[in-house]
Amino acid sequence: MIDRINKLRQDFGARVAQATDADAVNRLRIEFLGKKGHLAQAMQELRAVPAAEKPAVGKFINEFKQHVERLLGEQAEKFGKQAGAGRERTFDTSLPGRRETPGSLHPITQTLDEIETIFHGLGFRVEEGPEIESDYYNFEALNIPKDHPARDMQDTFYVEGDTVLRTHTSPVQIHVMERQEPPLRIIAPGRVYRCDSDVSHTPMFHQIEGLMVDEGVSFSHLKSVMNIFVHQVFGKNTSVRFRPSFFPFTCPSAEVDIQCVMCSGKGCRVCSQTGWLEILGAGMVDPAVFEAVGYDPERWTGFAFGMGIERITMLKYGINDIRLFFENDLRFLRQF
Ligand code: DAH
Repeated sequence: MIDRINKLRQDFGARVAQATDADAVNRLRIEFLGKKGHLAQAMQELRAVPAAEKPAVGKFINEFKQHVERLLGEQAEKFGKQAGAGRERTFDTSLPGRRETPGSLHPITQTLDEIETIFHGLGFRVEEGPEIESDYYNFEALNIPKDHPARDMQDTFYVEGDTVLRTHTSPVQIHVMERQEPPLRIIAPGRVYRCDSDVSHTPMFHQIEGLMVDEGVSFSHLKSVMNIFVHQVFGKNTSVRFRPSFFPFTCPSAEVDIQCVMCSGKGCRVCSQTGWLEILGAGMVDPAVFEAVGYDPERWTGFAFGMGIERITMLKYGINDIRLFFENDLRFLRQF
């Protein structure tokens, strides 16, 4: 029996040396280590060996088995590496690459950036405020007392008690004036929330607030700044009109319209045949607001304005459903 194993061992040694690829190594593995291989057969034959010789013969077979496993393992590794190296060498550098799809800024972000740049050029600085506000900042300090009918102008999300999701960016005016003395020129972009949802309203949208306070600021400054703004965003041939309106925190108040961008003022479905589109609210800061923040209304005057970014973006690009901004549909977003 030992002789037979020795012969097998020689045979194996010669055959391993001749194996030139992974396939040959695999065939040897099956021939020697497989279920019906030489080693399995030797174990079968071991049963018939006289008990006295069994331990020695068994040990011999085991040593051979380990020898086979080790050598086959080494060979397999060698050929495996070569196969890998071969693949690298055949890499086809002339194949076309996979294209990266470039992203882009969301249209709302683009409009925000554009508006910020315009006001930056006019000396306005960007300020931010919290989205969760107290009743005081969102209403009271802006001259909207409890039970005032003006509270119904906006459908408020109440968080708890006196805390609300801000319904507009106007409370940032209060924060800024509380911590800073005039003169000041700020804009405050950010998210605002109202309990409202249809083609032109979403529960969350973006506004930009503006505020300028100094000695001798008048309504004509407001008109001039609004004209510059509209002309830069919608083109310098776009007419602007101020329409008397009401906001509790400004007096006098106005709504600013631009000539309809769809029909150039001739009258169409978008402007309800009026030829005009409302784009923002504005006015002279009400003395009650100055008093709330401790400014002397006899000395300081100022103007404020507030606009919806979604609305401006919709008018600029002719988008007819505000919900498109929030659906993350790439077919929509790729157009900007
Ligand atoms: N906060 C108002 C709103 O959300 C917009 C507004 C109107 C802001 C007039 C102002 C302003 O600063 O002067 O409807």
